[in-house]
Amino acid sequence: MTKTEKYLGGARGWLQPLVHLTNNPISFVGVFLLTAAGVAFFFILPVEIRAGAKHPYLGIFSFVVLPATFFLGLLLVPVGIWLRLRGERRRHLLPEVLPPLTWQNRDFRRLVQFFGVATAFNVIIGGYYSHATVTYMDSSGFCGVTCHTMKPEYTAYLDSPHVNVPCVDCHVGAGARANVESKWRGAGQLVAMILDSYERPIPTPVTTLRPARETCENCHWPQKFGGYRLRVWDKFAEDEHNSPSKSVLVMRIGGGSMTTGIHGFHVAPGIVIEYAANPKRTEIPWVRYVDAQGNATEYQTEDWTPENQGNYERRTMDCLDCHTRPSHQFQLPERAMDGALSLGRIDPSLPWVKRKGLEILKKEYATTAEAEQQIPAALIEYYQKEHPEIYAARREAVERSAQGLLEIYKRNVFPEMKVTWGTYPDYIGHTDFIGCFRCHDDLHKSADGRTISQDCSACHELLAVEESNPEILGKLGIRP
Ligand code: HEC
Ligand code: HEC
Ligand code: HEC
Ligand code: HEC
Ligand code: HEC
Repeated sequence: MTKTEKYLGGARGWLQPLVHLTNNPISFVGVFLLTAAGVAFFFILPVEIRAGAKHPYLGIFSFVVLPATFFLGLLLVPVGIWLRLRGERRRHLLPEVLPPLTWQNRDFRRLVQFFGVATAFNVIIGGYYSHATVTYMDSSGFCGVTCHTMKPEYTAYLDSPHVNVPCVDCHVGAGARANVESKWRGAGQLVAMILDSYERPIPTPVTTLRPARETCENCHWPQKFGGYRLRVWDKFAEDEHNSPSKSVLVMRIGGGSMTTGIHGFHVAPGIVIEYAANPKRTEIPWVRYVDAQGNATEYQTEDWTPENQGNYERRTMDCLDCHTRPSHQFQLPERAMDGALSLGRIDPSLPWVKRKGLEILKKEYATTAEAEQQIPAALIEYYQKEHPEIYAARREAVERSAQGLLEIYKRNVFPEMKVTWGTYPDYIGHTDFIGCFRCHDDLHKSADGRTISQDCSACHELLAVEESNPEILGKLGIRP
């Protein structure tokens, strides 16, 4: 007897039957899963440690997929053993004497060989896929495409100034706690997606965003943005000629060290604004304003009664209370039409195109596929039937406009996610949604009788409102 045989002999009491019984397909699958989980763990661990919050969905892997694989493997091995034991007992095949654990032992040899091949396989394939998975999960495309529930946000994101800011930069807070929380959420969201139990549309406001101070101010620090901004809005009437007009406003953005203008009054150093709002943040009956010198003023509406106060949640105002849609802006049909008409994606020289286009856009379509079929067809049919002379002469313009109309729909409405016109409000202004006027309505009063102003020139100078040819643009050298 060699030294090794002697050693193994000591353990032979249980090791030999174990090796013998493990030789079955089910246990082999279990062994394979165990090595796969083990190998993947070693590949993912360093990325987890290094990248932290950058990979919220890696959590799905390390919190869900890995342990699940591991425990399934751990379960299959004994199940296989037990089944083989039962089978051999029943058929009286259970050997009385088992050969020693040497290379001549077929069971032992096969187990070792299988283990070796499985490990090698998992290192090569698993290593490759772990690497590819991690790289892929890092991309915004992963959040937006893999998870089809986020198609609306991803579509809007691709069309935003923040297309180069990764989703996780805004959506996952900094620090270990936010990291773990986001992983649990990620895992929960995956389960919801598999069970098809997630909410449609995804509800807002989102309460788990990274604080604006940590994200926005990485790139837009308050000292930088400011001054005035000239804005020109192109509009088209719903008449036969789609009569164009322009609104010209100078926005008093302010900011920096100036305590003037929009930013100056809300986010300049020292200023703190707290408010109480309903969970949807559409009603704000109470506001507390601390100015740069530290003087506090409370404003409230008649809704702020002791009985009502429990219905509201408190929050400190930041960038996102006004910029609710920095990267997922959805438009209302009128505004989207105006945009497409001014860019020529829809031809403004086609009679009645705005009115007809709006009518078609506002109809309900059960699926995107249905809209793809019906929207362009409806506009083309309108010109074929009502304006055949125009259709005959300008067929290309009609067809291009029909496609332009569909583009608007697909950019803003997602029937599969129950996202339609106005589902996600943008609070930057007050014309499409209540926005600034949640507070600036002259109804919020302080104890000494001051109000939060609705004065039209507090936020902007109205240089022209829906004028067909504003003189001011000529003076500024901006030609129509
Ligand atoms: C510049 C910051 C920023 C980036 C980048 C960003 N988001 Fe958002 N996202 C927000 C804000 C702010 C909200 C909350 C809007 C609200 O509460 O009204 C939001 C809301 C959402 C919502 C909830 C539904 C909704 O429309 O309000 C989803 C889903 C979402 N984002 C997915 C994504 C995905 C996917 C990406 C990357 C492709 C991404 N976000 C990138 C800022 C961002
Ligand atoms: C990684 C850098 C980065 C981060 C983070 C970032 N932005 Fe921006 N933002 C940009 C860039 C780049 C532009 C485009 C600048 C331009 O068009 O002049 C921009 C443009 C904007 C604009 C002007 C859009 C317009 O109307 O033209 C607003 C408003 C804005 N960002 C708000 C925010 C808010 C709010 C946040 C935080 C949720 C944020 N940004 C986070 C880089 C960033
Ligand atoms: C009280 C509401 C409000 C708050 C709070 C607010 N903004 Fe703004 N911001 C605006 C408005 C309104 C505009 C002008 C929009 C327009 O031009 O129509 C603007 C414009 C901007 C622009 C574009 C400036 C330019 O000159 O083009 C940036 C960038 C920006 N905000 C970033 C931020 C950041 C970052 C924060 C948080 C530190 C913030 N804002 C907080 C209302 C706000
Ligand atoms: C949560 C409530 C709240 C919201 C929402 C809000 N503001 Fe304000 N705003 C205030 C308060 C409070 C003051 C300070 C009033 C005062 O002391 O005169 C103020 C002051 C201002 C001022 C200075 C007014 C003046 O007298 O010169 C401007 C400009 C302004 N806000 C613009 C905006 C814009 C633009 C929006 C929307 C994008 C907005 N605000 C949204 C609460 C709000
Ligand atoms: C609290 C600040 C504030 C006050 C007060 C205010 N506005 Fe505005 N207004 C805005 C902001 C911010 C925008 C830009 C919205 C955007 O960027 O889409 C805007 C945009 C507009 C526009 C152009 C947008 C469009 O769709 O045509 C008009 C017109 C306008 N305001 C008229 C008025 C009038 C009239 C008053 C007075 C009753 C007024 N505003 C009071 C903040 C204000």
